[in-house]
Amino acid sequence: MILAPMQGLTELLFRRTYEECFPGAIRLAISPFLSLTHGITQRREFSLEAVRFADVWPAANRGSIPVVPQILGKEPEEFVALANALADAGYSEVNWNIGCPMRAITAKHRGSGILPYPDEVRALLEAVMPRMRAKLSVKMRLGLKDKGEILALVPVLNDFPLASVAIHPRLGRQQYTGQCDLDAFCQAADRLRHRVIYNGDITSAADAQRVHERWPQVAELMVGRGVLSNPTLPLELAGVSFSEAERHTAACRLIRRLMEAIGERYGTSESAVRKAKEYWCLLWHSLPVSEVQARQVLRAGEWEAVDKMVKEMTQ
Ligand SMILES: Cc1cc2nc3c(=O)[nH]c(=O)nc-3n(C[C@H](O)[C@H](O)[C@H](O)COP(=O)(O)O)c2cc1C
Repeated sequence: MILAPMQGLTELLFRRTYEECFPGAIRLAISPFLSLTHGITQRREFSLEAVRFADVWPAANRGSIPVVPQILGKEPEEFVALANALADAGYSEVNWNIGCPMRAITAKHRGSGILPYPDEVRALLEAVMPRMRAKLSVKMRLGLKDKGEILALVPVLNDFPLASVAIHPRLGRQQYTGQCDLDAFCQAADRLRHRVIYNGDITSAADAQRVHERWPQVAELMVGRGVLSNPTLPLELAGVSFSEAERHTAACRLIRRLMEAIGERYGTSESAVRKAKEYWCLLWHSLPVSEVQARQVLRAGEWEAVDKMVKEMTQ
């Protein structure tokens, strides 16, 4: 199973803490995206130092879930510079994000904004792939506005030696609303010559089973929110069963270790409180707490109060 990239959530702090609590449960993670535009300095030059490299810094990632860095953007020169810097840092694969649904990003034909334009996808791949020292994989949606977009892209993607294609079967304009479209996923996956990874709304072994039944050739599953709301899910997908009490114990341990890691990294600042609440919002579903208790934590203002409540509720 692959951990899906989630900006602000599946960053190094989480990946390291998760691996410490559940060693080996997750085979691989895709990092939250490194944006090429973050690398453009005020003088409109590209600077690798300006890219937020820290999350994938190899030394810092030692002992964490193995990670494939993800790039968001479509400027070929900058793409090659970043991909090759990552290759030099020891990464054998980088991932291209052509699924991000945020309007500010799609408006510039980045993320899922490039999906209606197969020529632009081809131009980028043609320009970068022969010059890259790492393999390239892709993470995408069905389209920006129309699920026919992925079918027009399949022949383009098939012309390049991609390591894999991960598909989240929603449209960019849906963001995260509506159902994942398994029919459209199967249609595209049938035509792709690459390893195809399924991503979207997997929250139980039964969900995973449904995907495998619909498309048995699926190479692997990629899971995001499902792991953050039930941290034993990766083990459950591998066939391990947990009682509710065991799930609670495992989730309590993870949130307590996350709180410690957040405290070490952010002190008692507002950022620490924000970060703790972001994880709490998803993780409390696996904890032995009621919705009323969960809301109490979300209403607390100071780090000390949040920390004390979480400790008391997860003993
Ligand atoms: C808060 C948040 C941040 C995300 N950040 C990224 C990202 O940096 N790169 C990316 O490719 N997808 C990103 N995604 C999409 C997820 O990787 C994934 O495709 C989506 O959550 C569906 O999978 P899930 O249902 O298993 O969570 C993000 C999603 C969320 C909710």
